[in-house]
Amino acid sequence: MKRDLKPARKIGGAISVPGDKSIAHRTALMSILSNGPIDVSGFPDNADCAASLRAAESFGVTVEKLADNHVRLQPPDQPNIEAETIVDCGNSGTTTRLLAGLVAGTDLAVILSGDESLSSRPMKRIVEPLTAMGAELIDSEGHLPITVRGRKLLPFEYQMPVASAQVKSALLLAGLAAGCSVTIREEFITRDHTELMLRHLGTNIEIREIKPIMEPDPVDPRKKRRVMPESFRKEIILGARSKLTGGEIDIPGDISTAAFYFALAALSGQTVTVTDVGLNPTRTAFLDYLKAIGCKVEIDNRLIVSGEVRGDVTVTGGELKARKIAGETTVGLIDEIPIVAVLAAFSEGETVIRDAAELRVKESNRLEAIAHNLRAMSVSCGVLEDGLIIEGKKDLSGGDFVSFGDHRIAMAFAIAAQGAVGPSTIDNPEVVDISCPQFFELLDQITQ
Ligand code: S3P
Repeated sequence: MKRDLKPARKIGGAISVPGDKSIAHRTALMSILSNGPIDVSGFPDNADCAASLRAAESFGVTVEKLADNHVRLQPPDQPNIEAETIVDCGNSGTTTRLLAGLVAGTDLAVILSGDESLSSRPMKRIVEPLTAMGAELIDSEGHLPITVRGRKLLPFEYQMPVASAQVKSALLLAGLAAGCSVTIREEFITRDHTELMLRHLGTNIEIREIKPIMEPDPVDPRKKRRVMPESFRKEIILGARSKLTGGEIDIPGDISTAAFYFALAALSGQTVTVTDVGLNPTRTAFLDYLKAIGCKVEIDNRLIVSGEVRGDVTVTGGELKARKIAGETTVGLIDEIPIVAVLAAFSEGETVIRDAAELRVKESNRLEAIAHNLRAMSVSCGVLEDGLIIEGKKDLSGGDFVSFGDHRIAMAFAIAAQGAVGPSTIDNPEVVDISCPQFFELLDQITQ
């Protein structure tokens, strides 16, 4: 099925978006190991998080629905599942990788499987460190299905070779399940919802950010230069015999979903507000990007709930100017690159995106998917091994967009269509259900 998309004549208004997907996954999976119930409000009703809830249930968690988007996750006395049960993780990389870690630290054994897209995503990044900790994992040439057989694990220290919150979280959950200490060092800081939630739910976890120091410049000793005293930026230490006590978590709106509506404001020069959205500093790089390309970003009602910052965000678009994206900025924008690429097409000048090879192994090969769809709008887009070169232009034509079965590609180009000069279509629009089934409804609320 295709969906027709017409350019918007008028844009503006205030909406709220469903709860943060990353945080919701973590509540569901951590409940397997919790010593008390976890009451979660703001739990989103998307397909990805449903996979994590189903997985939790298969280990004995009871999911009680208290109200709309409000669940009580009642842990089992002891997590249990029949040996070698197949747990279907659907399309969800977060479910797969976090659950693999968690099971690795128990005395249970499961087989993790997923849909075609998930089965093509790399899993060595969790198999190798979890095996080094002492678990037994048998993958299928680096992919799903994976058999995970939990073992008694050894205390573990690991410097992350890939910037990945999923891998970091897998190792922390392995340590939590096994009761052994885990020290993780990150060269590139990734989202820290696992650490914050572990702390909020009563676990013994230490987070240390390494600050740069000033030292004399070797070329000109009268000058000083900033250097990092270590080869990493952050150290996370989960103590041995850490336990989760349970508690309450209120999930803020998902900033990665809100990003699509902020982009609409950006490309139209209009104003859009998203209320009560997550503002965890490891997730706000998109707001910095919007400012850098010429938008106005205002934040009101900032507060911390359940260990996470949130607030109301208002974005007003302006004359957009291209900005280079690389290094830690790319890491911070990891889920937003599809919509960044769309904004690049609407910006004056050439946007170069580098250090984004990870985009090739997301729900689709996002570099190719973005290029395909930008070219359908007659935008010039070059694909690099690790990025894209996008020539901004005026009066972009509409296109027949292909979602490649990827929710963020579908949403990014549904937004692009609003700013095009002619009509567009998108195939498989229901793929938005992976993270935001309400996506088109919310779009209708702020467009005419
Ligand atoms: C996520 C981490 C990121 C992100 C994904 C969700 C998480 O993946 O792209 O959508 O919830 O930990 P990587 O860890 O593979 O970078």
